[in-house]
Amino acid sequence: MPDEPAIVRPLRPPQDNIPQTRDQRDALLQAVGDYIERAEPVSPLSVEELRSHALAVLRGVGLDEKYVDYAAVLVSNEVWRPTVARIPYEKRLLLLPKCLRNAEECPAQFDDIGLLCEGCGRCMMSEFKSQAERLGYAVLIAEGSPVVMSLIETGKVEAVVGVSCLSVLARVFPYMEAGAVPGVAIPLLRDGCANTNVDADWVWDAIYRSNEEQAHRLNLENLRSQVSSWFTEESLSELLTVAGSRTEKLAFEWMGKVGKRWRPFLVACTYQALAKDKDIPLGDAVRQAGVAVECFHKASLIHDDIEDGDDLRYGDKTLHAEYGVPIALNAGDFLLGEGYRLLAETAGSDGQKARMLAVAARGHRDLCLGQGSELTWIQSPRSLTVAEVIDIFRKKTSPAFEVALKVGAILAGYGDELSDILEEYSQSLGIAYQIRDDIEDFRSNDESAALNAVRPSLMLALAYERAGRDDRKLLDMVWYGADGRLCAAEIEELLTKLRVEHLASELMDSYKSRAISCLGKLTNSDLKGLLRRVIGKIFNDFEIMGCCNDHKAGYDQGGESSQASSG
Ligand code: IPE
Ligand code: MG
Repeated sequence: MPDEPAIVRPLRPPQDNIPQTRDQRDALLQAVGDYIERAEPVSPLSVEELRSHALAVLRGVGLDEKYVDYAAVLVSNEVWRPTVARIPYEKRLLLLPKCLRNAEECPAQFDDIGLLCEGCGRCMMSEFKSQAERLGYAVLIAEGSPVVMSLIETGKVEAVVGVSCLSVLARVFPYMEAGAVPGVAIPLLRDGCANTNVDADWVWDAIYRSNEEQAHRLNLENLRSQVSSWFTEESLSELLTVAGSRTEKLAFEWMGKVGKRWRPFLVACTYQALAKDKDIPLGDAVRQAGVAVECFHKASLIHDDIEDGDDLRYGDKTLHAEYGVPIALNAGDFLLGEGYRLLAETAGSDGQKARMLAVAARGHRDLCLGQGSELTWIQSPRSLTVAEVIDIFRKKTSPAFEVALKVGAILAGYGDELSDILEEYSQSLGIAYQIRDDIEDFRSNDESAALNAVRPSLMLALAYERAGRDDRKLLDMVWYGADGRLCAAEIEELLTKLRVEHLASELMDSYKSRAISCLGKLTNSDLKGLLRRVIGKIFNDFEIMGCCNDHKAGYDQGGESSQASSG
């Protein structure tokens, strides 16, 4: 490890919520290490888990709780330590903040991504950068740039070593957490974007951290594209008959239609996280089970479109709109049979097959009960509470996710030990998924269509709970199926006034959080990380990242051009 470069810099004390002396910081780090060894928390940790561990450490050593954010960073680092150590240097990113440079003398320019360090040696960054690059790291001098997330998403980067101030870390952390990105963060000792300082040997330790037996992190993008390759005509024709009869032909075409393929993706994810040998590409058994699960899903969509009288799906005619109800109904039934056949013929032990079939049968049954409660309501509508709507969501949308996760686990050789957690996770995921679907419907449909659709709408239930007596009369008209077009403008105005879209999004977030927090019970870190990341993927949570906004704050101190930007 190189000597620290001599840096002439006025020494300023660390900010108030960071232990003031190096001895105190080292002692805290040691205490965190001891605690993690004893408590053995499983990575990745949610924000709440991190905070509660951090508080436990601080209480244990009698330190003030004002250090909780700092201690939480150390806890996160320690939990990720073994994972980061296994990831090859070439798959790591070193992220440095421009605040570390010597602002008065730094000759570097900025481009759209970050600072173009010239390696002049006037600050410690050039040393960090050159050493890390020599090891194989990619190095970026930019905080929270969206580039970082895209590097992670595409699998180019599998771990991040980052130096940042606590306030930026707090902003960026949720995104790292959503991506379950293995990372080590070394907090700057002061916020404030210029001439700050860091415990440099902690940075060196993180950069060099390594272990002989290196592995790769599961690449979700890769899994996603493998899963979509299962639904090409060629691949599907290996599992389903192409055109033996008209029924087979219709079913085959329906399977090949666009779709997000989340359920087979979940089969692949669970299998991959739990399997002992992480075989890539995934074997035929996983593909077959994934296609089976999609057969069930696509069958349920055909039947749902008939039940709801929807003529459009994927911007195209639904099956019954194209061929009539009897033919569509039969194609859906056929796909259900195909799903069961594929599971029964999957390579696996008889015990595995029996368990997959049982899981599928139960999911099929539960989903019909969920649809049934919606359909029964439609026959005799009344106003529904938010809890009642959510219960319908839980029953009709979660079973398909649950079947997918459990089938993946069974294929990977697991028994029932994960059942409860997978069920709880699926329930929250299913509800959040259905809420999002409702929000999207609400946004995209023209208002009269949205309001006339006779369905247990979450938007209406939210509005109803907040509305006064007169407003409820208006909403009752919609609930009871009167023609909402008569007063569409009024209803629209009411829903806007009551901020239902915002409430629905908050509710969706709370179910996402529930799904995340039930993962706290998992003891398998691969599965925990993967199921955490899946939520980010399904809900596309990676769009923006917090960043250091010093250029906006206007203390542009040394030759920084106006194009300075950190994302
Ligand atoms: C549709 O599911 C039914 C809901 C649960 C909202 P998807 O939106 O996942 O449908 P595909 O798979 O992309 O067709
Ligand atoms: Mg329906």
